[in-house]
Amino acid sequence: MKNIYSNIYSFNKKILKKTIKSLNQGNIAGLPTETVYGLAGNAYSVKAVKKIFNLKKRPKFNPLIVHYDNIKDAKKDVFLNDNFFRLYKKYCPGPITFVLKKKKDSKISSFATANLKTVAIRFPNHKIIKSILRSVDFPLAMPSANLSSGLSSVQASDVFDEFKKKINIIIDGGKSKIGIESTVVDLTNKPKILRQGIINVQEITDILKINLLKNISNIKSPGMLKKHYSPGIPVILNIRPRRLDHAFIVYGRKFKDRKNYFNLSKKGDLKEAAANLYKTMRKIKKMGYKKIYISKIPKKGIGLAINDRIKRASR
Ligand code: TXA
Ligand code: MG
Repeated sequence: MKNIYSNIYSFNKKILKKTIKSLNQGNIAGLPTETVYGLAGNAYSVKAVKKIFNLKKRPKFNPLIVHYDNIKDAKKDVFLNDNFFRLYKKYCPGPITFVLKKKKDSKISSFATANLKTVAIRFPNHKIIKSILRSVDFPLAMPSANLSSGLSSVQASDVFDEFKKKINIIIDGGKSKIGIESTVVDLTNKPKILRQGIINVQEITDILKINLLKNISNIKSPGMLKKHYSPGIPVILNIRPRRLDHAFIVYGRKFKDRKNYFNLSKKGDLKEAAANLYKTMRKIKKMGYKKIYISKIPKKGIGLAINDRIKRASR
């Protein structure tokens, strides 16, 4: 069944078949995952991967995450190691991405990996993306479904806002449960966190027995260097707005309800706040506000990832 946007589909057997056919032909689809929506294409196809970069206007030096259904398939493309297995066991399928060494005979397009000798791989945990991955003979290159440097999409209509009819298929899988992108961990050498996410870094540190918190803000993925996660209007941190055409994103019980106040989580739950972050910024921009102010958000646990995203959005 189609809904109001003619390229947004609910999930059923018919659309599954249509999507698989389209991906087999080298086309791109907007698909839900548990973190954010992705723009998916055959990671083995140069044509498909180039389409993704063009659609997103993504710089060629910024590699894509390659998504798999299972370890056996991933093993064809990358060298798996002990640290990988430790984290896989605990978190997969789930919101974590592993940077690993690429095998020489891997079929992954070198455009997808920006010519690097490594590949970022992920095993997403969402019914729809899992059934698609199971039905194709290749992994899916899948960056977040947004124009480069903008806000990630957390619902099908966001994907439509970003790309309109430039992609034929967007599958509606509801609101992304997690709402921010996966944790990226580099396992090629001494493990490093390249991007924070919903997973507690202390917990990863405990599993790997290596202190990952030490230099967490120094080293980043190629895609983390510049301005990112921008809603398209200025974002100002840690102060209150003085005007009613400026929105205020707040967190916790101490803020009263006001017309231009948007509470990420009244009860002060960081997980809920992460899930609401992009959705709220997108909504504020759509409502016509000229600037976004954001109150302090605790810098602990998931709050670290939220602070990382809003800091980049404010650059
Ligand atoms: O949650 C997610 O990870 C989502 C969903 C759709 O799976 N995907 C996502 O992809 O956020 P993207 O392309 O928006 O972000 C991928 C990040 C970028 O910062 C990129 O630089 C980094 O992963 N990355 C990709 N391959 C890499 C590699 N070989 N080495 C280091 N960083 C890499
Ligand atoms: Mg992205």
